[in-house]
Amino acid sequence: MYVYLKHSDYSVWPITLLAFGVFLSIVFTSYRLYAALPWVVTSAVLMTMSMDGIFLINTALVALILLRGVLDRFRKPLIALFILLTLVKMFVMIDYYLEEKFTYIYYIVDGVFTTLSIVLYPYNRRIPDVKRATWPAALASVFMTSTATPLSVVAGVTLALGELPHYVIIAVMAANGVYLYLTGDAFFYLPPTALVLAYFATYRRLTHTSQTPPLGWLYSWLGGRYKVVKLLGAGGFSYVLAVKHGRETYAAKVLRYSDDAGVPLAGDENVLAAFGQEMNRYLGIKSPHVVRAFEVYLPAVAYRDLAMYMKNPPYILLEYMDGGTLRDLLRVRKKLSTHEALEIFRQLAVGLYDIHKHRVVHLDIKPENILFKNGVAKIGDMGIAKVVVGGYVRSSYMSPAYAAPEVKKGRATLASDIYSLGCVMYEILTGINPNVFVESGHEIPHPSAYNREVPRWLGDFLLKMLSLNPAERPTAGDLITFFKESV
Ligand SMILES: Nc1ncnc2c1ncn2[C@@H]1O[C@H](COP(=O)(O)OP(=O)(O)O)[C@@H](O)[C@H]1O
Ligand SMILES: [Mg+2]
Repeated sequence: MYVYLKHSDYSVWPITLLAFGVFLSIVFTSYRLYAALPWVVTSAVLMTMSMDGIFLINTALVALILLRGVLDRFRKPLIALFILLTLVKMFVMIDYYLEEKFTYIYYIVDGVFTTLSIVLYPYNRRIPDVKRATWPAALASVFMTSTATPLSVVAGVTLALGELPHYVIIAVMAANGVYLYLTGDAFFYLPPTALVLAYFATYRRLTHTSQTPPLGWLYSWLGGRYKVVKLLGAGGFSYVLAVKHGRETYAAKVLRYSDDAGVPLAGDENVLAAFGQEMNRYLGIKSPHVVRAFEVYLPAVAYRDLAMYMKNPPYILLEYMDGGTLRDLLRVRKKLSTHEALEIFRQLAVGLYDIHKHRVVHLDIKPENILFKNGVAKIGDMGIAKVVVGGYVRSSYMSPAYAAPEVKKGRATLASDIYSLGCVMYEILTGINPNVFVESGHEIPHPSAYNREVPRWLGDFLLKMLSLNPAERPTAGDLITFFKESV
């Protein structure tokens, strides 16, 4: 192991087979995610027995750095191996150049310098976009030689995270094998095998690639079940991810471990329990105008640390709304026509009626939380406001801009949602949020003052919804009747 054999006639077969056995056993045991690592060790051993030793070890070093980029999660073992391999490399070089005085000093300096620069570079960078790397990686793998075997591991991991189909991997492996066989490479079976093993060791097994939510979930399997394909948003207490299950796309809303101020959320058992309770109530609400919830996941035992949370975070699985939010629409359009506004109003009234039927207060009706799919409007972002309100109120979690006056005094009722919906409707008709008048102690002007197209009866009804006294506001049932009779 320690001696560099310049003209080795040792047979490498026994050691290769041994390493291969170790690798297989690791792939199929609980440590399978460390599968890439034995290959690096194998490479180091092979290096000492071949003329291409230095090349192989350099490849291994580069491969480790790349793996670190893809699998930030294995930072510590990767760094340890990196340092070890660098030391081996320097030792081998000294041995090789021993007769030539002073040249070894140059190589020591080289070793230290390259190590530092290579380590610092990818270790400070964000996870690369795996999806874009998959096809180039597949193509490059076809021409991988056995001295570049560690890179096959990186390619295998990348292809698995990018979810290239199995048959592509098999084709790449076969083409690579044929290529190496034709070029007369003695170890023509090594790179293709490493590629395939790394692929299957990673495929649908990674729950996260780094300890930084929500980025660490990208391309891996949320809770081991749903493939995370996109990050949709990160709010005060949740992350929203687009996930795939088979061909179906969903939105998964994940409760954060702690908020920006460091106050524990999922890390706190009480908040976690409140989240579970609220979300389970949400599961029961089925309405054509409320974003559908399909599944709630809570851990069986409380989270000990961030690592445990990353592996199995609490989430609620929602219908994926690909049409953006009402806020997105208002940014482009400023205000909508009476006809369009009335149609959205009707749909939201149905949604709110279905929520209130279950005696649930939404508490956070606002343009950001109204989502579209195929032109249909639905109320989203259910319940979490109450989870937090139940535990402790943090003003940053609620949106005062659309909240009824009594909510700010801590007395929210079903009527508070009616007020918020009134604000939203007033705003999409006039471009002005009526709460600004209330805040400054003024009476809310009739919406027709800002948009002459708004009919008298509609404006009157909106002003009723915006009454300062909750008892004077119509109920969600009244909204339904209003649409049946007046519109
Ligand atoms: N079901 C969904 N489908 C698609 N995008 C969604 C969905 N739910 C939320 N989002 C996106 O994520 C953002 C934040 O989601 P939201 O549920 O409002 O969480 P928050 O509590 O952070 O406000 C939304 O504004 C929207 O852009
Ligand atoms: Mg929201």
